[in-house]
Order: sequence, then structure tokens, then C-alpha cells
Amino acid sequence: MAKSYSDEEQSIIDSNKAGLIEADGFIVISPEWNGMVPSVLKNLFLLYSTDVFAHKPGLIASISAGVGGSYPITELRTSSYKNSRICYLPEHLIFRHVTSIFNDSDDYPDDNDESTQSYMSERTDYCLDLLLSYSAALKTVRADVLQNPKFGNGM
Ligand SMILES: Cc1cc2nc3c(=O)[nH]c(=O)nc-3n(C[C@H](O)[C@H](O)[C@H](O)COP(=O)(O)O)c2cc1C
Repeated sequence: MAKSYSDEEQSIIDSNKAGLIEADGFIVISPEWNGMVPSVLKNLFLLYSTDVFAHKPGLIASISAGVGGSYPITELRTSSYKNSRICYLPEHLIFRHVTSIFNDSDDYPDDNDESTQSYMSERTDYCLDLLLSYSAALKTVRADVLQNPKFGNGM
């Protein structure tokens, strides 16, 4: 069903779209809220779809105040790609105990130490390098793939 937005909303939607279309890849960062992705992030995939995301790589990074963080990964991998055709990398990042890691709080002193932080820094750099490689590689795919209007939505 067609949705209608106010003029102001439509102009914000359109102006953000231009920047998203230019992107060759995305870092999708999500907190875990009651084991879910916040609806505002899911809404992004309703507002923008194939023309913005198709055949572009996405690196998921989830954030948890506790030891969670895996549910947003599963949810995004399960339900945000079908019509958008975003290609999530097989690697992802989970930042647990986020008040301590890379922060001063001693809520979780074990995560505030140098070895945990350097492990996560190294892993983050590795994922960012992967994202850059996929971004370069998938440009070739996008140049080859013709969007078939018969298959406007994923199956
Ligand atoms: C409404 C709400 C629900 C949350 N539910 C969870 C949860 O189920 N599991 C978890 O690990 N953290 C949970 N958290 C903690 C968030 O993951 C953490 O606060 C967030 O990643 C940090 O980002 P923020 O600065 O936007 O809060 C929740 C936080 C909020 C506000």
C-alpha cells in the first residue's frame, strides 16, 4: 500500500536518499533493545530499499550494555535484506559491556583492560578492511546486474 508523508517528511526522506545512493557500502550499527533491533533502524529498510541498498555490502555492528548483542545480528540478517538486497558480510562485530569497553567506567573491569580493547580494535580494523574489499568487489557486480522489473521484490 502506498504511504503518504507530509511535505517536510518527504523532503527529509529525499535528501537523505541522495547520500545513501552514493554510498558503496554500509556499517549498520544497532543497540540490542529487549533482544531486538530498534524500530527506527528497521524503518530505514522500509523507507529505502533496492535503489539504495541493492548489492552493496553491509557490516553489522551490535552493541550491548550486558552480554547480549547477538539478537540484532540475527534479526538484521533474517529480515532486512529481502527487498533491499543489502549483502551483509559474513563477519560482524559485537561490542559487549559497552559502558566499559573503550570507556572509563569500571562496571566491567575485565573489559576495560588493554587486551580486550586491543582485541576488539584489531577485529574492528579487520572487519573494516573486509568491508572496503567487498565494496570494491561489489561495484563490479552492480555494474553487471540488471535490476529486472519483473522481480521488484525479493522472493
Ligand atoms: C529499551 C532498552 C532495552 C534494552 N535491552 C537490552 C537487551 O535486551 N539486551 C542487552 O544486552 N542490552 C539491552 N539494552 C542496553 C543497550 O544495548 C545499550 O544501552 C545500548 O547498546 C547502548 O546504546 P545507547 O547509548 O543508545 O543506550 C537495552 C537498552 C534500552 C534503552
